[in-house]
Amino acid sequence: MAKRKVLVVGGTGYIGKRIVKASLAQEDHITTYVLQRREMGSDIDKVQLLFSFKKQGARLIEASFSDHNSLVDAVKQVDVVICTMSGSHSGSHESLLQLKLVEAIKEAGNIKRFIPSEFGTDPSRMGHALEPGRVTFDDKMVVRRAIEDAKIPFTYVTANCFAGYFAANLSQMETLLPPKEKVTIYGDGNVKVIYVDEDDVALYTIKTIDDPRTLNKTLHIRPPENILSQRELVEKWEKLLGKELEKISISQEDFLASMKGLDGFGQTVVGHLYHFFYEGCLTNFQIGEEGEEASELYPDVKYIRMDEYLKLYL
Ligand SMILES: NC(=O)c1ccc[n+]([C@@H]2O[C@H](COP(=O)([O-])OP(=O)(O)OC[C@H]3O[C@@H](n4cnc5c(N)ncnc54)[C@H](OP(=O)(O)O)[C@@H]3O)[C@@H](O)[C@H]2O)c1
Repeated sequence: MAKRKVLVVGGTGYIGKRIVKASLAQEDHITTYVLQRREMGSDIDKVQLLFSFKKQGARLIEASFSDHNSLVDAVKQVDVVICTMSGSHSGSHESLLQLKLVEAIKEAGNIKRFIPSEFGTDPSRMGHALEPGRVTFDDKMVVRRAIEDAKIPFTYVTANCFAGYFAANLSQMETLLPPKEKVTIYGDGNVKVIYVDEDDVALYTIKTIDDPRTLNKTLHIRPPENILSQRELVEKWEKLLGKELEKISISQEDFLASMKGLDGFGQTVVGHLYHFFYEGCLTNFQIGEEGEEASELYPDVKYIRMDEYLKLYL
């Protein structure tokens, strides 16, 4: 079979660089292309990361979101586009920049699969989300509608909680490291959430690019052993640490009241945590006809369990 040509847009970002790495690792099946945005030039870390991809075999394609024809030309060179653009979580609406990419893909007419930048909560289930954080989901739904109106073949990837942001810190706000003395527990701490290592997100994403089972569907990443309550995650850390942490439970009312006085970003974080840890929006539904579960489709992936993940932080 001919090699797939995959273009990653946003390849120097947090999840994007992992997707580039996962794509490069499949060099027998995939030729990896990374969008080199003209505007990127002033950020030395990004530029060096981009050229390190080139060193590893990626092909760089120059284009700009301010130049429609350059995006069309970029898209015409490949079969698959994976976008890993920033989310709109701080109200900056970066997700909506993808509409320009959708226009280019529509005009190019050759793309066999588009994976837009989602990689979080299924936005189609978040119509009720709290302000101001609902912009994250609303903007992703605008992009979905544009993709579907343009009849572009797609897969949406719902990745749930990235481990680096949610597991390493035992889901605490304002730190990315696990506490060693006290931990804040959301409500009774028994609501199930889903933690996923970012490299596993990237691997499942790459596996899905030409899988007919995920064409025009949502790929839900729900590795069964990583469907855990916050208390179960804390217990794993306590076992590794060899001691119990002091647990301070915060009620739903007090948690929501803590939004007052925070800036927009802080309010967004509280709102999202409320939906995940009190309401249970990541696990309170069954995957229906519109979706597939990643670890069922790709049982060969030895996904990272959270006790293994947390060992790094000892
Ligand atoms: N599930 C979770 O826990 C979780 C956590 C974080 C993020 N996410 C989701 O993952 C996706 C990617 O987020 P991320 O944190 O990886 O993104 P990020 O690192 O903030 O940014 C990704 C890329 O977006 C591009 N970008 C940013 N601003 C731009 C602009 N104004 N114009 C053009 N390109 C711009 C840049 O691409 P270049 O490489 O071209 O510079 C950047 O590298 C989002 O949909 C987000 O909601 C999920």
